[in-house]
Amino acid sequence: MKIEVKVGDIADWRDEAVVVNLFKGVKRPGGATGAVDKATGRAISKLIESGDFQGKFKEVAVLPAAGGLPAKRVMIVGLGEREKFKLDRIREVSGKVALHAREIGLKSFSTIVHGAGIGGLDIRESTEAMAEGALLALYRYTRYKTSDEGKKDPEVMTIVTTEKARVGVMQRAVESGAVIASAGNMVRDLVNMPSNDKPPQKLVEFASKVAKESGFKCKVLDEKQMVEMGMGGVVAVGKGSEEPPRFLVLEYKGARRGKPIVLVGKGITFDTGGISLKPQEGPLGPIWEMRHDMAGMATVLATISAAARLKLPLDIIALAPLAENMPSGHAQRPGDVLQMYGGKTVEVLSTDAEGRLILADALVFAEKLKPQAIVDVATLTGTAVYALGKRVTPVMGNDRKLIRRLEKAGMETGERVWELPMFEEYGEQIKSDLADLKNTGGKSAGCITAGMFLRQFVGDTPWAHLDIAGTVWVHGGPESIDKTYMPKGPSGVPARLLISMLRSWGRKA
Ligand code: BES
Ligand code: MN
Ligand code: ZN
Repeated sequence: MKIEVKVGDIADWRDEAVVVNLFKGVKRPGGATGAVDKATGRAISKLIESGDFQGKFKEVAVLPAAGGLPAKRVMIVGLGEREKFKLDRIREVSGKVALHAREIGLKSFSTIVHGAGIGGLDIRESTEAMAEGALLALYRYTRYKTSDEGKKDPEVMTIVTTEKARVGVMQRAVESGAVIASAGNMVRDLVNMPSNDKPPQKLVEFASKVAKESGFKCKVLDEKQMVEMGMGGVVAVGKGSEEPPRFLVLEYKGARRGKPIVLVGKGITFDTGGISLKPQEGPLGPIWEMRHDMAGMATVLATISAAARLKLPLDIIALAPLAENMPSGHAQRPGDVLQMYGGKTVEVLSTDAEGRLILADALVFAEKLKPQAIVDVATLTGTAVYALGKRVTPVMGNDRKLIRRLEKAGMETGERVWELPMFEEYGEQIKSDLADLKNTGGKSAGCITAGMFLRQFVGDTPWAHLDIAGTVWVHGGPESIDKTYMPKGPSGVPARLLISMLRSWGRKA
């Protein structure tokens, strides 16, 4: 769907539908909604009086345009309680409108900006949220369908403003909103893709294409180079598969000075558990869902790509260790001891705790770049779901300011995070008799002990870790994130969060 910004008055605008809004409890609509109400012989007021429309959050009604309105229909959408109104609600409202437009078969529709008038929100931010919400909501994954199913998307959404002076700002906001939405949608595409089509080398080729298009560098280490460098984690995890492991190094230079920010993403293209084989049906879901185990990689790729397209004034490096965790005659065994990049040794108690093994190498690689901060993203532990459920991403780290930045960005984007403690005593659970560390920490506090394990590999560099095992996928139902712009399937979390954090990096944490 294309999004345009035009100058005009919604009350005499011609389109298949014009979209206006209403806060909950408002009896006499004002502003643009009031003007459309007047032009339709008070059709909206009558609807409110009849009790058929109350302005509840995400409520929608469509009326045939009556009276002097040139548009064919009026769509009215509820903004909910005024006190609860914020940017993320605009994304949801805009998502709802776009989905409803598709549902009733509109080829195009025109809308006012929700929230910039009576809502009192910033015009740039509201417009951006409108574009973001609509484009995220309309996402569908059809690559493996050989015939056209379902309804067609609207072709054009026009945002109409009466103020000519605002058009430039709004157009740029639509562009940035589209870049942010396409980052979320890129993560969804990659996570949706079946594992037979995304072995490590294929993901490298995909990343390299994205790098060319968006304007950043893409380098890759192969298995031989990793063996020479001593990256024992990635090599051991990759050994069991016919598909050799890779290590992606993506580099965007928007500042050309100072220290980079390094993002690290787990890239397990499929996680069988290895010799510590997973059951067909785990406590948290079926094994086929383990195709999502490269969501961390997808997130850092989408984020650096968006940073480049938004021309952020930062130097960013994204790293992704890529491997397929398979059992075979070449696979690592439970009880093996590995030496990780940088020299630390690890006793492998479970080959299913493979994420931390590949991340250890990547974090050492990151630390050697002397960055101002490292943020890693990983579908790391099922325990994350037991800790915080499927709505909120656990965050851990060694730097309060960095965690604060992530918390803030989480609130702004709706991709919320919550800190788990890293008290020293948890470290007892991952001490090994045989090696420096072991890769599992027992039954309790699994999400935290995984974080404690990673912590051993970053030194004193400011670092934070996001465990997205619970938030990577929207399953539906009462446990899941329920947002109009996050349909069932891969959520795209936390690409928008990271982009938001990077955009505000220059500001105080
Ligand atoms: N990729 C999984 C984590 C996961 C599990 C994500 C379920 C989403 C849903 C990870 O590699 C894993 O298997 N973790 C183990 C660690 C354990 C063996 C210490 C887990 O969480 O069970
Ligand atoms: Mn695993
Ligand atoms: Zn895994």
